[in-house]
Amino acid sequence: MIVTIDGPAGAGKSSISRQVAQRLGFEFLDTGAMYRAVAWAVLRNDRELTDETAVAEVANQIGIDLSGGRVLVDGVDATDDIRSPEVTQATRFAASNTAVRMHLVGLQQQFGREKDLVTEGRDQGTVVFPHAECKIFLTASPEERARRRVADLATRGVAAEFDDILAQQNRRDEEDSSREVGPLRKADDAVELCTDGMTPDEVIQRLIDIVQQRQ
Ligand code: C5P
Repeated sequence: MIVTIDGPAGAGKSSISRQVAQRLGFEFLDTGAMYRAVAWAVLRNDRELTDETAVAEVANQIGIDLSGGRVLVDGVDATDDIRSPEVTQATRFAASNTAVRMHLVGLQQQFGREKDLVTEGRDQGTVVFPHAECKIFLTASPEERARRRVADLATRGVAAEFDDILAQQNRRDEEDSSREVGPLRKADDAVELCTDGMTPDEVIQRLIDIVQQRQ
C-alpha cells in the first residue's frame, strides 16, 4: 500500500509522516530530503546553481541513502546541513530542474516497489504515485505554519521574527505552486486535512484512521 502525504512548507509533514509510517509499520520516504541533498552536493562541489546542466549532472552522479533515518550523500552524513537556510534557499534550483525531477521521481518510484510506504513531498500523489491507494493533502494556514516554525526554532535556541518566517514561507509556497514541473498541487482524489488547532498527536491519529479506512 502506498500512502502519499503532500502539502506546503511548514505543515509539519516530515515529523508527522515519519510517525504515521512508524505506527503503521510502513517504510518512510522524505522526498524533500532528496531535493535538498542535490542542492547540498551542488554547493559542496562548487558547481553553479544556475547552471541547469551542472545541477542535473550532480543529481545523476551522487548516491543518496535515506535508510537508517539519516541522509547520506555519497557516504557523507548531510542530515543537519541539508536543513540550513543556505541549502533551503538553494533547493529550488534542484526542484525546478526537469532532469533532476525525472531522475528523483524514478528513484522514488523504485523505492515504492513491493513495499508498504508512506511518502511525503509536493508531487507524490499527483506525479510520482498517481495510483496510490491513499492520498492526503496536509495543510495549515500560513500564519499557523509560521507560528509553529518560530516555536520550533526557539526550542533549538534560534530566535526568528514571525514576519520574516511568514514572508520566506509565502515565497517558498509561491515557488512550489508555480513551478512548471511537479508543482505543489492537491491530487483530485486526495483527502485534505487542515491541521489548524490540532496537536501533532491528533493529526497522526486522524491520518492513521484515514489510512486504515482504506486498508
Ligand atoms: O519538504 P521540504 O521542505 O524538505 O522540501 C524542500 C524543497 O524541496 C521544497 O521547498 C520543494 O521545493 C522541494 N520538493 C519538491 N518535491 C518534493 C519534495 C520537495 O519539489 N516531492
